[in-house]
Amino acid sequence: MTDIKKGLAGVVVDTTAISKVNPETNSLLYRGYPVQELAAGRSFEEVAWLLWHGELPTPDELAGFEKAERAGRALAPHVKAAIDLTPVTSHPMDVVRTAVSVLGAGDPRAEDSSPEAELAKAVSLFAAVPAMVAYDQRRRRGQELVPPRDDLDYSQNFLWMTFGEEATPTAVDVFRISMVLYAEHSFNASTFTARVVTSTLSDLHSAVVAAIGALKGPLHGGANEAVMHVFDEIGGADRAEAWLDRALAEKRKIMGFGHRVYKNGDSRVPTMKAALDRLIAEHRAQELLALYETLATAMDARKSIKPNLDYPSGPAYRLLGFDTEMFTPLFVASRVTGWTAHIMEQRAANALIRPLSEYVGPEERHLP
Ligand code: CMC
Repeated sequence: MTDIKKGLAGVVVDTTAISKVNPETNSLLYRGYPVQELAAGRSFEEVAWLLWHGELPTPDELAGFEKAERAGRALAPHVKAAIDLTPVTSHPMDVVRTAVSVLGAGDPRAEDSSPEAELAKAVSLFAAVPAMVAYDQRRRRGQELVPPRDDLDYSQNFLWMTFGEEATPTAVDVFRISMVLYAEHSFNASTFTARVVTSTLSDLHSAVVAAIGALKGPLHGGANEAVMHVFDEIGGADRAEAWLDRALAEKRKIMGFGHRVYKNGDSRVPTMKAALDRLIAEHRAQELLALYETLATAMDARKSIKPNLDYPSGPAYRLLGFDTEMFTPLFVASRVTGWTAHIMEQRAANALIRPLSEYVGPEERHLP
């Protein structure tokens, strides 16, 4: 019998220069820089540039990029029309998937896969996804679209377009940190999906649309949303242990815990948890903190399984004011940087990704 690597676990399928995940040292490097250092002091715009170009931007490069990002923030009329046609009963991931597809269909550079065109499309997506997500959140609350503001940076403007008021400095910083931490994570399921699509020489937007589909699942990006459903189901810290025992007895996967690569804790969690703590202090949300800590401690005691990034980011997005279903589209807004960096890397040294399978169906047979 062939040695089958179910789920491609442990299989190294290609090289990448974009990020390095090291579970032994519990580190994650973007182009060589520890993600914690980037989260401590760099804007999400600088991190996006770093992922695409391999180096942090010079002041002039950053100014040029920020100008392009600000110019691409407004929701294009055909994209807004597509969002308006999508029922508010649909999942917001379906909306952002559709909106990105429509944006690509209207992009004159859609079929141009030169490095310059690919980068321009990546910048346009980076700038446009916040408007899609913010508008979708607003229309679900019966609110009007809020146009972007040029005097705000990416994170400030994202929150402005969503809530129609300026966020506190703590809220802006926590949001920025979440964007930096979610941006890139080597060959995770959605990034690999984007690379598979790119490997057929398909276009950048098709690869991103496919990646959004992969991210939606609760074993991947959908976990940040699922964490809050778990918190709501439990209801309070005093019920967490009994709930966990029941859930584990039913063989349920506890959302926000465990990781395919990190087995001793996700390197991004301490940074995101510290950011969440700042929001908890600002909102005096001690009950949320108690539930968070009790469930994590109980999970560690029973299964020795640690939280992943989705565990602290779910509660943080709730405190920032987003509806639970909007959490995974926020992950899209961030990860679109990593996806597009990988699309460009794949295209630069392409080989069609086409694995083999072991056939276990009926032997050859013939119609009567
Ligand atoms: N709850 C309960 N048991 C778990 C969990 C969990 N969250 N994660 C792993 N286990 C158990 C699993 O049941 C198995 O036990 P046993 O050997 O007794 O059958 C063992 O740990 C190994 O698990 P696995 O599912 O084979 O490990 P994997 O590497 O295939 O899974 C995972 C990784 C992320 C799919 C899994 O941990 C999981 O389902 N977690 C919950 C969903 C989640 O939080 N996903 C976010 C992932 S990280 C951020 C992102 O990519 O978005």
